[in-house]
Amino acid sequence: MVEPQPPVAPHPDIALLAPLLGVWRGHGHGEYPTISPFDYSEEVEFGHVGRPFLTYRQRTRHAEDGRGLHAETGYLRCPAPGRVEWILAHPTGITEIGEGTATIEDGVLTLNFDSTHIGCSGTAKPVTAVGRSLTIVGDTLEYGVRMAAVGEPLTHHLSAVLKRA
Ligand code: HEM
Repeated sequence: MVEPQPPVAPHPDIALLAPLLGVWRGHGHGEYPTISPFDYSEEVEFGHVGRPFLTYRQRTRHAEDGRGLHAETGYLRCPAPGRVEWILAHPTGITEIGEGTATIEDGVLTLNFDSTHIGCSGTAKPVTAVGRSLTIVGDTLEYGVRMAAVGEPLTHHLSAVLKRA
C-alpha cells in the first residue's frame, strides 16, 4: 500500500499549467458523420503529486438519461517550457498520445495537441488520429476534439464548456 503523502507544492516545471489544477464541470455536444448528435455532462479533474506532470481523469454522462458515456484518464506532461504531452487511456480499447504546445497570452492559456501515437485493441473501433484544443480563461475551460476514425478524415467530434467547481 502507498501511504498518503503530505500536501506538496506543484513542481516548478508545471507552473504554466497551474490554471488547469482542480475540478471542472459542465456540458458538451458531440457529433460525427457516422452517429446521431448528442449532449453530455462532464466532470474533469487535474491534480499533481509534486512532479513535472499533471494527473487527469474525466467522465461523462448522457444529458438526457444520465447513462455513463465516455471516460478517460492519464497524465499531462510538460517536458520543456511551452511543450506538452498528453498520455491517455480510453475504456473503448484506445490509447492516445497527443503532443503540442501550451501558450499564455493576455491571460488566456491555450493548449493544442495532435496525436503522435494511437493504439487500438483488437476489438476497438479504428481511430487513426485525434486533435485537441483547450483554452482556459479564469474559471472557464473550453475544449474541442476532432478525430479520424471509422474511415472518416479528421473531423469535429466534441466541444464543451466547463466551469471551475
Ligand atoms: C467527452 C468525451 C466523449 C464522449 C461523450 C463521446 C461520446 C460518443 C458517443 C455517444 C458515440 C456514439 C455511440 C457509440 O458508438 O458509443 C461516440 C462514438 C465514437 N467515439 Fe466518442 N466520445 C468521446 C470522446 C471520444 C474520443 C476522445 C475518441 C477517440 C479517441 C472517441 C471515439 C469515438 C469513436 C471511434 C466512435 C464511433 C463512431 C462510429 O462508430 O461511427 N470518442 N462517442
